[in-house]
Amino acid sequence: MKELKIESTLFIFDTIEELPKDVMSLMKKAFEARDKAYAPYSNFNVGAAILLENGEIITGNNQENASYPSGLCAERTAIYYAGSQYPEVKIVKMAISATSKNKPTSTPIPPCGACRQAIAEYEIKQKTPIEIYFMGESGHVAKSNSLTNLLPLVFDKYLL
Ligand code: THU
Repeated sequence: MKELKIESTLFIFDTIEELPKDVMSLMKKAFEARDKAYAPYSNFNVGAAILLENGEIITGNNQENASYPSGLCAERTAIYYAGSQYPEVKIVKMAISATSKNKPTSTPIPPCGACRQAIAEYEIKQKTPIEIYFMGESGHVAKSNSLTNLLPLVFDKYLL
């Protein structure tokens, strides 16, 4: 038996002010999307903004449903729209922010497992890493240079 260690690297910015200008404005788009989320059941609003290689910015937010599993996370709402409208255009960066009406969100809030798997599909498809920045409502922003850092044992089509 061998031990397998998996290493992940994230970068932490103290505040949004420390981000590169283009990322700061992408994060602000995520804030705007977040504030338009439809989340009457969880009161947990999430916004995602995606920068495409052609300069377009696509945003999405979580959309909940009285039949709970029918709802969709912000990240997948955004990335599926990008994939449907710009199938040949690479995704460069994604910024994510989440707020809760129940408690403050001042630590970085990462995308859920299902969203990581969905983002991974596009990263593999385009053969280019996607930068992911995520945060709560305020405070530190975490950056991953590739989705691989967030989902090391990705389920990929070669396994099928
Ligand atoms: N949510 C997201 O939008 N993204 C995530 O990565 C995690 C969770 C949404 C789903 C649901 O509407 C609410 O947050 C609470 O789970």
